[in-house]
Amino acid sequence: MNDIWRNSRHAGHLLKSRLGKLELSTPLTVASGTFDLENFEFFDPACLGAFVCKTITKEPKKGNPPPRLFETEAGLINSIGLQNPGLDVFINEKLPQYRDKLSMPLIVSFSGSTIAEFCAMLESLERCEGIAGYEINVSCPNVENEGIAFGIDPDVVFALTRELAAITNRELCVKLSPNVTDIARIAQAVEAGGASSIALINSLWGMAIDYRTGCSRIKKGVGGYTGNGIKPVALALTYKVSQAVKLPILAMGGIYDWQDALEFIWAGASAIAVGTANFVNPLAAPELIMGLGEFLLTQNKAVRDLVGKVQI
Ligand SMILES: Cc1cc2nc3c(=O)[nH]c(=O)nc-3n(C[C@H](O)[C@H](O)[C@H](O)COP(=O)(O)O)c2cc1C
Repeated sequence: MNDIWRNSRHAGHLLKSRLGKLELSTPLTVASGTFDLENFEFFDPACLGAFVCKTITKEPKKGNPPPRLFETEAGLINSIGLQNPGLDVFINEKLPQYRDKLSMPLIVSFSGSTIAEFCAMLESLERCEGIAGYEINVSCPNVENEGIAFGIDPDVVFALTRELAAITNRELCVKLSPNVTDIARIAQAVEAGGASSIALINSLWGMAIDYRTGCSRIKKGVGGYTGNGIKPVALALTYKVSQAVKLPILAMGGIYDWQDALEFIWAGASAIAVGTANFVNPLAAPELIMGLGEFLLTQNKAVRDLVGKVQI
């Protein structure tokens, strides 16, 4: 599989991109929760311009009861429930492995249940080496606001981003939920709060039912819908956000191949992530970079020449 990557290296200068404070050797990363170090058994990690880890929370989380995954006719429904070992185990056990094995910038995804908890987690992470930036997962419940997700209220998003931006000089990327009425307002709150980039989209709400028995396909009933079925939604939200703010965008949502990636770049993404596609095709990432590199070579264009240049 290294051949795939070797072939695309001559497009290296065209694949370079930038996400806020980070120089990326390629515009490609992996969507939080869909990829970990063991996936690198299949290909050369160098095809990724950055690595985003699974969201961590302060305390360990066991996640939701099974079944937690269901493959629909167009994409996946999951209710993993942010299963993770918690901040201390992440810092003491997981982070050293990432430092050892990753040559590209590491972006740590984390989530809190109050603004104070987000800040305390960031302060702990700031004391660790080997972290290039953060992806702030705001799709989780805010216990100070009736459990309503942080990411749906522009005032809360602004306050959270401002507090976090005051603590770090590393890349600060806020990941938006698509389950909102006006995503542009949330993106503007992120920008006003002082983040350096925006990631989108997290999963949509989704449900699947066995028509014969009437039983929900996942134990929790409603879960997160991701994969190829959400691509048009993710593209539209990428475009809307790119029109509303100047911050660079890391886009994801149904990106399976280089053609999908290009659509998101035209729509306004400076970087893209492969998520559900990793479960369908473990080689999705290197194949995407090879195809994208070849396309850029034939056009003699760099990624940055295409970002946001969609013709309407
Ligand atoms: C199994 C699974 C686990 C996920 N875990 C997380 C997570 O921990 N944190 C997060 O921000 N997003 C998580 N996501 C959402 C993805 O990062 C991504 O935003 C979403 O899947 C859309 O991209 P895709 O259609 O390419 O998968 C998860 C998605 C899946 C399928």
